[in-house]
Amino acid sequence: MGYRRRLAVLAALCVIPATRSLAQRSTLAGVYNAEQAARGRDVYAGMCRSCHTAESHTGVSFHKTWEGRSLSELFGYISTKMPKNEPGSLAPEEYADLLAYLLKMNQMPAGPNELPADTVALKTIRIETRPTAAPSRQNR
Ligand code: HEC
Repeated sequence: MGYRRRLAVLAALCVIPATRSLAQRSTLAGVYNAEQAARGRDVYAGMCRSCHTAESHTGVSFHKTWEGRSLSELFGYISTKMPKNEPGSLAPEEYADLLAYLLKMNQMPAGPNELPADTVALKTIRIETRPTAAPSRQNR
């Protein structure tokens, strides 16, 4: 094998795992934890509930908009567009907590670690919904 070719193979070996790991984890794999979702719930009650009900973020409507997209997109959306009357007014950590709560509302399982308030890291997590899941009353 020539030098150039070996280089190309080496480059491919480096690139493939790197791109494959992008958006590889799923939101069904336990990507936030319970404490974070509980904090998010408090923020939501104060900043979001005046305009929203759980239905606007769960079930079919959530599935239609967000299925297959990365968590960084949802994070980007809420952190630049919400709360609608004062977009971007919360701290990045509060938006990450809200994200955890949105996942919890969608009955995605909690895990050991918190979601980071970091769009690069959030890009590696793919939103995978359970389209049949109804909003659960206890999460409101
Ligand atoms: C003043 C009213 C208002 C407040 C407060 C508000 N929202 Fe919204 N939100 C809206 C409206 C209206 C839309 C529909 C899209 C639009 O018009 O921009 C929306 C859309 C959304 C969506 C997209 C829904 C979807 O999946 O298609 C998300 C997610 C969201 N809001 C989250 C939040 C969060 C989190 C907060 C609290 C930080 C919040 N919103 C606070 C009015 C509000």
